Amino acid sequence: MKQRVLTMLREAEDYLSGQEICEKLNVSRTAVWKIIKQLQEQGYEIEGIKNRGYRLLSVPDIITEEEIMSRIKTKYLGKRVLCFSTTDSTNIQAKQHAEEKNADGLLVVSDEQTRGRGRRGRSWNSPPGENIFMSLLIKPKISPESASMLTLIAALAIAAGIEMVTGLEVKIKWPNDIVVNRRKICGILTEMNSELDYIHYVVVGIGINVNTKSFPKEIAKTASSLYLERGKRPVNRSQLICVVMEQMEKYYEIFLKTGDLSNVKEEYNDRLAGLDDQVRVIGEKTEEVGVSRGINPKGELIVEFPDGSRREVMSGEVSVRGLYGYV
Ligand code: BTN
Repeated sequence: MKQRVLTMLREAEDYLSGQEICEKLNVSRTAVWKIIKQLQEQGYEIEGIKNRGYRLLSVPDIITEEEIMSRIKTKYLGKRVLCFSTTDSTNIQAKQHAEEKNADGLLVVSDEQTRGRGRRGRSWNSPPGENIFMSLLIKPKISPESASMLTLIAALAIAAGIEMVTGLEVKIKWPNDIVVNRRKICGILTEMNSELDYIHYVVVGIGINVNTKSFPKEIAKTASSLYLERGKRPVNRSQLICVVMEQMEKYYEIFLKTGDLSNVKEEYNDRLAGLDDQVRVIGEKTEEVGVSRGINPKGELIVEFPDGSRREVMSGEVSVRGLYGYV
């Protein structure tokens, strides 16, 4: 009910009369008034004028199911949303719902994580009130070997979404770190449950540094937030979540058509940080310097070495760094 009132307020061009809400939702005036009051208590600024109705003036930066559901314009991704004020990890929570009937497209979001996880067993700092921690559960009919490409698809979607909402120039550090002004502002942890030849589900976990006001000195050179990069202006997290999901749906559909990155390769390479620059390719026991020539349709990075040879390197096998730092 709350969600429907919010949607109506959002869509109204002018004042929305209490009578209209009552009729559409088939509830009493008092019920409408109570919902409006609850919304106001949550931080929604709603003006109520006698004989004219209600008007939404501003929305708080909160992440709730009704806030997301009343905004999101996707067909199936994130059409079912679970929001927590705190949880261990949204990836863990998403996996727990994987066997449910309508799990495909489920989005789990939390304001805070107590066991936020990064790649390669690292932890992901997840304090409350400022960032986005979300996990999207999908069941793509592709082979398990292709699943790593979904991370690059997510990176493209997040980069496009952030750019649309903030106007910042957003780059991707291969394969899937999102960077602004050479600093990481988002990480993706993709996990999969599969048989050798069949995917049960994939969870794409996304952590975006949105409104973090400061970083410890040790990491301030390599990590940042949207707030800092756009000159101390906060970003509404629910809005960003919805736009990223819309972009994710767009790129996911393009990906599913071919099952690879052939249709987005150029766009990805346009966003690639360090394209045609020298990079260090770091293996388990080796380190080589070459020039980054962008990704191939499988999402591998093509690197050209001083002897003129080219090699396609896979994430997981190597990591790639700029010559003078993280990017
Ligand atoms: C990285 O190491 O760069 C990936 C970080 C991924 C963090 C996100 S936050 C939401 C989701 N839940 C987790 O526990 N991790 C991912």
